[in-house]
Amino acid sequence: MVMKSNRFTLFVLLLQLLMLVAATSSSKSLNNIGKPNNIVPKLLPPQAYLSFSHYHSSCPDLEAIIHRRLQAWFNKDYTLAASLIRLHFHDCAVRGCDASILLNSRGSERSAEVSKTLRGYRVIDDIKKQIEIKCPKTVSCADILTVAAREATVRVGGPFWEVPFGRKDGKISIDREANRIVPQGYENVTTLIKLFESLGLNELDLVILSGSHTIGRCNCQTIQNRLYNFNGTRRPDPSLDTNYLKTLKTKCSKTYNIVDLDGTTPRTFDVAYYNNLKKKMGLLSTDQSLYSNERTSNFVELFASQPSLFYDQFAVSMVKLGNVGVLTRPNEGEIRSNCNFINRY
Ligand code: HEM
Ligand SMILES: *[C@@H]1O[C@H](CO)[C@@H](O)[C@H](O)[C@H]1NC(C)=O
Ligand SMILES: *[C@@H]1O[C@H](CO)[C@@H](O)[C@H](O)[C@H]1NC(C)=O
Repeated sequence: MVMKSNRFTLFVLLLQLLMLVAATSSSKSLNNIGKPNNIVPKLLPPQAYLSFSHYHSSCPDLEAIIHRRLQAWFNKDYTLAASLIRLHFHDCAVRGCDASILLNSRGSERSAEVSKTLRGYRVIDDIKKQIEIKCPKTVSCADILTVAAREATVRVGGPFWEVPFGRKDGKISIDREANRIVPQGYENVTTLIKLFESLGLNELDLVILSGSHTIGRCNCQTIQNRLYNFNGTRRPDPSLDTNYLKTLKTKCSKTYNIVDLDGTTPRTFDVAYYNNLKKKMGLLSTDQSLYSNERTSNFVELFASQPSLFYDQFAVSMVKLGNVGVLTRPNEGEIRSNCNFINRY
């Protein structure tokens, strides 16, 4: 029985690897990558695909402008890189990558409980302002946020990938949806896999994209129960390394109530995140559970030992994330003038 399930896991792993190779090589023919057939869960009419040339004539300097503005922001505050990657994830997880997270009104996703530690809104506003000067009413906030996440990844030492364009901005944003959908760090692997499946992402994508936690930070409040009262036991989570637990308790007793998601190399994009999990040093219980669950632990092993695989597959999975539920058809969504508000006509 055990033998069989191990073999099966190995089989699934090999299959995923083949898909990975296929995905990587097909990204060389640029046209394939943005096709919803591959990545977006719903079928769209052919003219509605994202494309790499979407802004080639309407806003040729788009990426250069974004790159320049972001370098300035990152030079001032390096931690914004992680925050922008997370902002993109929260956007795409709810109603697809449609900038619904940026809408700033009562009852919107942005005002939800799960959004309260999100940062980077001002960065996007600044970029949008610059772009509106050069290419008014042309570039969507959703596309800007997607490129920003790519730029942030490169800045912290991660891979580069081409971003396909043509997302429209949504007009609907509901706090309850965000609270229901966005994971908070205590879910079990089954729930996480289900969430990712609902976005058209698989278990490999889950393990890879969780690897974003190789950078960035977390408020102590989020892990309070793991440190002091796990599952109502009034004891720490037994799946936490005892020395790491001590370090976390010390750090969290300071007024500066924030800890690194990657306890060993918090400022570099590397596979330390996966090696931490193998040493019971995952910060969130969702991180740690990727190694204790047999549906995902093989991937953790794989990436822990193969940095180049992590690096390459991260780019592939981020493209998939950026294509989740995109609005592309003529009657869908709009190009917002201000990322904080839907347009008034
Ligand atoms: C798989 C389920 C996931 C869970 C449960 C989760 C949960 C969390 C939590 C609780 C934090 C810390 C928030 C705080 O207290 O300040 C965080 C931060 C972060 N998450 Fe995730 N996350 C998940 C997936 C992802 C994905 C898919 C990405 C990106 C593709 C991502 C990128 C980040 C980044 C970069 C940070 C650091 C943000 C900063 O430093 O401002 N996460 N995540
Ligand atoms: C995972 O969590 C969900 C939601 O809380 C629960 O319904 C389910 O039984 C849990 N599954 C496992 C395997 O623990
Ligand atoms: C949490 O506590 C409940 C009830 O005491 C128990 O049934 C469950 O197995 C515990 N879960 C974990 C992950 O320890």
